[in-house]
Amino acid sequence: MSTLLDCGVQSATRVAQPVISFDQAKAIAEVHGTPALVLSRSALQRNYEAMRSEMPGVELFYAAKANPEYLVLKNLREFGSSVDVCSYREMQAALNAGFTPDQMIHTHPCKTIANLVDCYTEGLRWFTFDAPSEIAKFVKHTPDVNLILRLAASSQSSLINLSAKFGCAPKDAGDLMRQAHQAGVNVKALSFHVGSQCLNPADFRAMLLQARQVWDEGIEIGCPLEVLDIGGGFPAPYKSEVISLELFCRSLQEALDDTFGDLGDSVRFIAEPGRGLVAECATLIVRVLGKSNRSGTTQYVIDDGLYGAFSGIVYDHAEFPLLVENAEHRPHRPCIIAGPTCDSGDIVCRDQPLPDLEVGELVLVPTMGAYSSASACGFNGLDIPRYVEVE
Ligand SMILES: Cc1ncc(COP(=O)(O)O)c(C=O)c1O
Repeated sequence: MSTLLDCGVQSATRVAQPVISFDQAKAIAEVHGTPALVLSRSALQRNYEAMRSEMPGVELFYAAKANPEYLVLKNLREFGSSVDVCSYREMQAALNAGFTPDQMIHTHPCKTIANLVDCYTEGLRWFTFDAPSEIAKFVKHTPDVNLILRLAASSQSSLINLSAKFGCAPKDAGDLMRQAHQAGVNVKALSFHVGSQCLNPADFRAMLLQARQVWDEGIEIGCPLEVLDIGGGFPAPYKSEVISLELFCRSLQEALDDTFGDLGDSVRFIAEPGRGLVAECATLIVRVLGKSNRSGTTQYVIDDGLYGAFSGIVYDHAEFPLLVENAEHRPHRPCIIAGPTCDSGDIVCRDQPLPDLEVGELVLVPTMGAYSSASACGFNGLDIPRYVEVE
């Protein structure tokens, strides 16, 4: 029996790890201040290349919504990625980072007219829909676009269900393709999203089987498709470890070969990974601003919170591990970690025992590259973390 190491995989799982040491964090904090988000270019490249090599048949369109930061977009463009945007502002961020409109798909299924027309005018031609009301917008404003029909997906293992709001039932897909065809707009692609932080690649296989039925239906009703978009969902390690990126992607490529392989070159496969590419590649550096006793428990106030990069706790259900220097040699106690705003709901965690922290001490938070700064708002006029790139 071959082992994982025989297959060239370093480990079957991955755990959350900072991209910098505490010494590097101190040096960065000295120069740039805190809070700071440190992006590792080499970690990003490693993830990008792992996905490419384990899914050789799949083109990657990075989901900019996960992190539209210039450094992330610029690096991914240099590595060879394309990009998925869902608004004109995301398109502009991608253009600023050097992407061209032909390297973009637009994946918002329900757009404002301005979002649609501005992106179209700038040159984007691939747009998503999942309902008749969206077809009417294309017919009126942008008839010569390529449409991507999004299917709802029923995922068993994903933390965030992205089909609660968007995606048509697979049984309604044939009708929608027919309606678009009759209205004179071209449906060229099928997409789905198994849900974000998908923990089991078997969910993709189940969805691919459904997508194949819709694909075949398209041929039967005279609307043959060209592109299959398998969405995002690739997981990242937070407090819990997850399957390695290599194994996850390898299993997806196998599922694609099994379900669509007989169609050969007539299908172009694409994916829209967000979290799986970028989450692990950034580490947040925060500083302890103050400490106090609150009903017998020590409360530490740090210089970032729910209105900053920790907004992922609110919007993304993320559970970030907090790391302190020499933790293994220091006794741990229950404590409260609070964000810096005046909102008493701005609590980062109550359930992670930590050593007795000094005011001024640094805390590192790994897996901060996705759905963190993207949803930060800077409430109270406080700074949101600035990005610093390291190799
Ligand atoms: C349409 C679409 N594509 C891709 C993504 C990225 O998903 P993930 O970060 O889980 O890879 C999302 C996330 O919300 C999405 O809505």
